[in-house]
Amino acid sequence: MRTVDVIIKKRDGLELTTEEIQFFVRGFTDGSVTDYQASAWAMAVLLNGMSDRETTDLTLAMANSGDVLDLSGVVDIALDKHSTGGVGDKTTLVVEPVVSACGLRVGKMSGRGLGFSGGTLDKMESIPGFRTDLTQKEFLSQLKKLGLVLTGQTGDLAPADGKMYALRDVTGTVDSLSLIASSIMSKKIAGGAQRMVLDVKVGVGAFMKTLPQAKDLARIMVSIGRLAKRKVVCLLSDMNQPLGHAVGNALEVKEAIETLRGGGPKDFREHCLQVASHLIVLGEGANSLAAARKLAEASLQDGTALARFRELVAAQGGDVSYVDDPNKLPKAPFVETVKAPKSGYLKWIDAKIVGETSVEMGAGRAKKGDSIDPAVGIVVLHKVGDRVAKGDALFELHANSKKSLEAARARVLSAHQWSAKKVKPLPHSYGVVK
Ligand code: URA
Repeated sequence: MRTVDVIIKKRDGLELTTEEIQFFVRGFTDGSVTDYQASAWAMAVLLNGMSDRETTDLTLAMANSGDVLDLSGVVDIALDKHSTGGVGDKTTLVVEPVVSACGLRVGKMSGRGLGFSGGTLDKMESIPGFRTDLTQKEFLSQLKKLGLVLTGQTGDLAPADGKMYALRDVTGTVDSLSLIASSIMSKKIAGGAQRMVLDVKVGVGAFMKTLPQAKDLARIMVSIGRLAKRKVVCLLSDMNQPLGHAVGNALEVKEAIETLRGGGPKDFREHCLQVASHLIVLGEGANSLAAARKLAEASLQDGTALARFRELVAAQGGDVSYVDDPNKLPKAPFVETVKAPKSGYLKWIDAKIVGETSVEMGAGRAKKGDSIDPAVGIVVLHKVGDRVAKGDALFELHANSKKSLEAARARVLSAHQWSAKKVKPLPHSYGVVK
């Protein structure tokens, strides 16, 4: 088989065989397929698409390109959740302890933030001492003993995806639904997941800008799940405005802890309950979504989810006094509450602008390897549909310099759009695909 023939076949819009896809991914992983060949192939896929069968073959070939975790001796059902990335998305910090408090084991390998949506690891590292670099042995041992782990990727999971993603990023080939779906699913499968909830974000602050696009991605991932014998539930959730109020690492940890204490922003709490309920049903901790939701709500009300979060932090070397008193978390030197410049209804709070501004302030990375400031960020105090009077507190800025504060103030003000007439709140969810 020749690499160039596989590229030509896809260029001509034909369907590749399983063997051709495996040959291509194997060659790309060992270097015998060059970066320029892989780039040409990725562009052919972007332009001509792939069938569900091809996409599943690509997923499995990438999943098998490195270590594949076998969790069968450690958990009865290997559960996982994944978000396609959103502004203020701290869902994992609440959902994992809730699911664990409901009696299920959950071990999650999360990522770092890149672009304008933050990463779970960066958020957790706001807690001094918290280790996100567990070895595979430590991951498995903690999952067995504590039933709850939250760490970075252990071992060499789906290396072909890592290499391919780096190429896609610089060759204009990120936006292929088949390539996105196989990239996400290959990492989940290599991490040992058997059943998973995938939270597909939709809106200006997300990868998927439109509902039809998001539905397509969800449909492809559910189909990969079916063909690869994994159970997949995809939620379609709004990302036009930030999730919850806080955007920025320590600020988001504080908001997650408030939620674990039974409070927190309404939209964020609702989102966590929905994700947790689906995971609990998939993990056979309840036989209906309504029963699962009751369990999840109870764990937030009676403190068991918070207790699980505390145990997680302790197990991974974090200082639990920061969980007990989140006011100890890193604080920015310049804090300002910006007031509403006029009265009216909020018709738009642009998640993309808020996310980009938080990155400019130092809360996220413009490129891989950039350092982040855990203390900085934005607290958006309202939701679309709220009536706000002139002079009411509109948002808080937490900055590390006066210059950054000034620049952020103008940008975040521009993210807020007003209407004199009543505005409907944005939907939280656009449905479920399973
Ligand atoms: N997230 C991934 O892991 N891969 C993609 O291709 C896009 C989003």
